[in-house]
Amino acid sequence: MRGAVISEVFDMNNVVILAGGQGKRMKTNKPKVLLEVLGEPMLEWVISACEDAGMDRVCVVKGFECEQIDEYLSARESKVDIRTALQAERLGTGHAVMQAVDFLKEDTSGNTLILCGDAPFIDAETIRGALEHHEKSSAAVTVVTSEIDEPKGYGRILRTDNGISGIREEKDCSDEERLIKEINSGCYWFRTEALLEALPELKQNNAQGEYYLTDCIEILLSKGEKADAFMSGNEQVALGANDRKGLLALNDIARKMVIDKWLDEGVEFVCTDGVSIGRRVTVGVGTRIDSNVKIRGKSVIGRDCRIGVGCIIEDSVIGDGVDLNYVQAYSAQVDDNAKIGPFVQLRPDSHVKKGAKIGDFVEIKNSTIGEYTAVAHLTYVGDSDVGKNVNFGCGVVTVNFDGEKKYRTTIGDNAFIGCNTNLVSPVNIGDGAYTGAGSTITKDVPAGALALERTEQKIIEGYAEKKLKARTEKFVKAHGDE
Ligand code: UD1
Ligand code: CA
Repeated sequence: MRGAVISEVFDMNNVVILAGGQGKRMKTNKPKVLLEVLGEPMLEWVISACEDAGMDRVCVVKGFECEQIDEYLSARESKVDIRTALQAERLGTGHAVMQAVDFLKEDTSGNTLILCGDAPFIDAETIRGALEHHEKSSAAVTVVTSEIDEPKGYGRILRTDNGISGIREEKDCSDEERLIKEINSGCYWFRTEALLEALPELKQNNAQGEYYLTDCIEILLSKGEKADAFMSGNEQVALGANDRKGLLALNDIARKMVIDKWLDEGVEFVCTDGVSIGRRVTVGVGTRIDSNVKIRGKSVIGRDCRIGVGCIIEDSVIGDGVDLNYVQAYSAQVDDNAKIGPFVQLRPDSHVKKGAKIGDFVEIKNSTIGEYTAVAHLTYVGDSDVGKNVNFGCGVVTVNFDGEKKYRTTIGDNAFIGCNTNLVSPVNIGDGAYTGAGSTITKDVPAGALALERTEQKIIEGYAEKKLKARTEKFVKAHGDE
């Protein structure tokens, strides 16, 4: 009806992430959820899945070394409201959720998602799909499950015609139940009100003397509620790690997942040994990535590049048609068709412009290298603004630090810096200026001029005779008269 006031009420989706574990077998003093998979803490994977799924509010239940969790969360730029609850004693998954009761009571209108902070491969599609299923079936609880070949260690799903009758932990399974391959991923959707009703009824009457969150299912069924299961299409949804081997296995899975994605996008890999590409990295079509390449953080790689063996690229933006060979780049920018390497380090805030060529054993720091400029060998360029089509001879050094302060060097377009020039900054080299090889330049050089700073060469005839005789005798003594 036209003109009618339509008021829609949106239910709030709460998320509780269980992150109290220590992971004793990891032999670390970090909370287990902060151990990394593909360069990101496992907790980061889980929280970002919640963000991608459009969740409203998140409570992380922390325990072991909880300050580290606080530190991590406060450094994070979160799109979702995140807070924490402390589980001082580790008394089981049900007990962990109990610590979030105050958080849950703040908004009981909708549903609550429970996730394990140490199962990094949960995905937004599973979260949304399970919620849809949960709402459609009017269940009080919906367990996210997956079917796996080796279900050992996981809780088994007991299906009925109309949902599920419970979850049986490995330790409590009969021989027959142990054969069930559908397992509890540790991820659940609860109607928030139903969860709050069930939690106070959890008991520690089991083999491990813990409050099992899984017991909520039977409690809710006994109240006449419905319990259901949603099988995720993501086979990795339940995977976690209990020890270092397990963590390495997760890294291998994640590594392959990302490489497979880029293969589908037209990126070329010849051999993926030692290749690891972070989840947030993007790579353009036609780019070839050789073995032992690590690309991390928020790096962006353009099209038709060659990222040669041994490159490490972190938080850097690489244009199209760039050729990198044994380059380490950290927070740097490289524009189209630049050619860099081998054995080059681009340190933070370096910008190598279009078509520039940086050769072997060169370090660039906090500097701009202009278009088509060549810095071919054994050179350090720090805190400098270099114009276009400049040529650096071998062994040039910008002397940018006097032990206290750093100073800038500027070099104009088309300048020619002779081999082994020291540019003692602050110093300006004008457009098209030259510096003679071996000069230590301490004063500005005007455009078009040549600056030469070295003593004139002297010749002392016959100087070597006496010295050479002594040296020859020593040589004959050591190596014979050959
Ligand atoms: C749990 C499930 C099991 C499921 C499996 C999936 C129970 C009783 N069983 O088993 O059905 O197949 O997860 O991985 O829930 N945690 C806390 N505080 C605690 C206990 C656990 O924060 O007191 C956290 C852990 O750090 C972990 C998560 O909860 O992130 C799961 O705990 P875990 O001990 O691994 O549960 P499982 O026994 O493996
Ligand atoms: Ca587990």
